[in-house]
Amino acid sequence: VTDPIPARPIPLAARAPGKCVLFGEHAVVHGKPELVLAIDLYTQVALRPGPELRLNGNPEVARSHRYLSRAMADLWAGGDPLDVVAVSRIPRASGLGSSAAFVAALAAGLGAARGGRDRPALAQACFTIEREAQGVGSPGDTSAAVAGGYIGLNSAASSSGEKLWEVAAGTERWTVHRVPDPGWVWVVAYTGVPKDTGTTVRAVRERLRRPDGPALLERFAETAEAGIRAVLSEDRDEVGRLLMANHELLRDLGVSHPRLEALLEAARPAALGSKLTGAGAGGSVVALPRPQMEIDLVRRLARAGGVPYAVRPAPAGAELV
Ligand code: PMV
Repeated sequence: VTDPIPARPIPLAARAPGKCVLFGEHAVVHGKPELVLAIDLYTQVALRPGPELRLNGNPEVARSHRYLSRAMADLWAGGDPLDVVAVSRIPRASGLGSSAAFVAALAAGLGAARGGRDRPALAQACFTIEREAQGVGSPGDTSAAVAGGYIGLNSAASSSGEKLWEVAAGTERWTVHRVPDPGWVWVVAYTGVPKDTGTTVRAVRERLRRPDGPALLERFAETAEAGIRAVLSEDRDEVGRLLMANHELLRDLGVSHPRLEALLEAARPAALGSKLTGAGAGGSVVALPRPQMEIDLVRRLARAGGVPYAVRPAPAGAELV
């Protein structure tokens, strides 16, 4: 997993996985622990020489694409124009990491073309691009897209695992560790309501200025640490219970949505636990199926109007294909 991205000349293609947050979204922006799972839905980016920079054949789309523009400025200064073609199975603005996967696949491809890149440097570069494009946020999504599998950020519970890297933005710093895969299938479902991470993260910052803000953040931290310990001990029932507890805290933050609540309600009979995942106020839910009930859970979420996916961890992060 910590193998570097090798050197390869253009034309080339690279891919990176989407993600879902299991514990600690929003609190991680304020330095608290988070558990993120890279999921086996990918974005693939092909790079070849072009007459000018184009995204999927379109120069205007390329110019107005914030992530592509930032990535080209940061990682391709002085380079020849590129024809970039992106294909993704991750619904856009769903909270399932489509932008981080795009950035990680693109950065891996550009890194390969510039002689190869080690993963800690790639994780930092991807986070910097996402922060510049989005203005706010933590390195959880981009680190998951670069690392694959399960990762813990700023977590004492996960510090027994391999340390992958540290990532910084100004004076803020996050530490990323590998969390071993307990071997479970998860189900995620998109509400169809696009989320807006920047707006939601800023609203949460305001919410946390209220007198109970610090105590609320501490409860996020305790829940995430307990959740990571429960994953490490492969205790499905406890993970399910803690997913529900984390969702209650997210409701308290004000980032749920009636469509999210409807999907969580529909999932209940077939899930040990479930919660919104990502920024919220739209976006997606994640649920841990009861044993042997994966298909039933998928069906319930679809019947309730969601777009469900049964997912496994993506074993590798960003890679050349
Ligand atoms: O942008 P999303 O929906 O994948 O949300 C990511 C999780 C947040 O904690 C809300 C933001 C962040 O960058 O960590």
